[in-house]
Amino acid sequence: MASTMGNIAIIGTGYVGLTTGACFAHLGHNVVCADLDAAKVESLQRGEIPILEAGLDELVREGLQSGRLRFVVGAAGALDDAEFVYLCVPTPQGPDGSADLRYIEAAAREIAPGLAPESIVVNKSTVPVGSTRLVEQALGRADVFVVSNPEFLREGSAVSDFLHPDRVVIGSDDQGAAIRVASLYMGVAAPFMVTDPASAETIKYASNAFLATKLSFVNAVAAVCEAVGADANDVVLGMGYDKRIGHEFLRPGPGWGGSCFPKDVQALLYIARQAGYDFDLLDGVVSVNEEQFERTTEKVVAMAGGSVQGKTIAVWGLTFKANTDDLRESPALQIVERLLARGAAVQAYDPAVRGSLDQYPALDVVDDAYAACDGAAVLAVLTEWDEFKWVDLDKVGQLMASTCIVDARNLLDRAAIIRRGFTYQGIGRR
Ligand SMILES: NC(=O)c1ccc[n+]([C@@H]2O[C@H](COP(=O)([O-])OP(=O)(O)OC[C@H]3O[C@@H](n4cnc5c(N)ncnc54)[C@H](O)[C@@H]3O)[C@@H](O)[C@H]2O)c1
Repeated sequence: MASTMGNIAIIGTGYVGLTTGACFAHLGHNVVCADLDAAKVESLQRGEIPILEAGLDELVREGLQSGRLRFVVGAAGALDDAEFVYLCVPTPQGPDGSADLRYIEAAAREIAPGLAPESIVVNKSTVPVGSTRLVEQALGRADVFVVSNPEFLREGSAVSDFLHPDRVVIGSDDQGAAIRVASLYMGVAAPFMVTDPASAETIKYASNAFLATKLSFVNAVAAVCEAVGADANDVVLGMGYDKRIGHEFLRPGPGWGGSCFPKDVQALLYIARQAGYDFDLLDGVVSVNEEQFERTTEKVVAMAGGSVQGKTIAVWGLTFKANTDDLRESPALQIVERLLARGAAVQAYDPAVRGSLDQYPALDVVDDAYAACDGAAVLAVLTEWDEFKWVDLDKVGQLMASTCIVDARNLLDRAAIIRRGFTYQGIGRR
């Protein structure tokens, strides 16, 4: 594969676009990132990163200093000399479960007049089968290529995942265009897979749906463990040693969420339905997850003596997982919402969240783990931040009204907690 340093435009500088832009600049390409949000662009121009993502600030600063990374407002301004234009805009869930492609179409229409002949528009957003064609139509340019290059990074380890991916998938009917896109990843050691656009698009949805299935499966097994007196932590450890199963994504929790799984699972269900296939298995995955939010909430209610009405509940963790500041579709918020609806006063602490949350005005967000426990009837651990493992349990016990912990991530040292006189309840274990 010939080494080429390309000129790349990135449209949308969120979790995916900013990571993609900063990493491509790090690999030696010239990158211009565009966003609609002028305030975001201004802070990025100053080297200030609006999201929490390990290693991203260093890469952005490196790119700004080398002059290989620039930020502009508006997609049209990013196109000068661009040979590659990456679409990294949102694809939220529409009312019927399908992916809402209005941002993709708007971005395509915006860039169409400014694209250089023979340039390549790359879909990195998660888009349903047929979206490559849809972008081609929105562009209305027979002299440019449209290629699918789905992104598999995980928030919290996005930079590392981009530079050391498990695979790079490229979907194109044009071998030359596929090779040009692959050449951008020079320096990235990973299996490269070139396939047709429909298969590339399906790989992304099927991968996320499979991971969600694994999580729902393990939460269902945890429910069985509770019923038969088994310990889910030992059960998943024993299962994970089987190489066909593996340890990853095999940990019981409060349910899954985040910016991708819920909408991508719904989008695959919609795609299957439209194609005439009832994906009952995936329907089950979603309903097990809804049940898990309820089951976790009920554990807190039971610990509080059957009702949380008028009681203070401490919550540790609001983000959808540790090491990110992303609250989108967070399982922790699903449970907070249910506790508030049952009349609880919720005091929450999360290392990545400061200030109140607009959508939950009744939620009291405090600035440290101990303050959350003040006067609480139950402490619920809802996100697996490492720092929760190192708190002073004696101090926690002194602050709480009663020493009850629901550890929805099986994160804490159960034996140490019980030794200190707490009542403990995990997921799939007592
Ligand atoms: N977040 C993840 O972990 C992840 C992982 C893999 C794939 N994806 C997919 O990548 C896509 C983007 O996700 P994200 O989490 O980065 O979204 P995001 O919401 O964090 O960022 C999207 C950005 O696009 C900008 N934008 C929208 N329309 C624009 C336009 N016309 N011109 C310029 N900027 C525009 C928005 O202002 C926003 O800053 C989605 O399809 C998502 O499913 C996300």
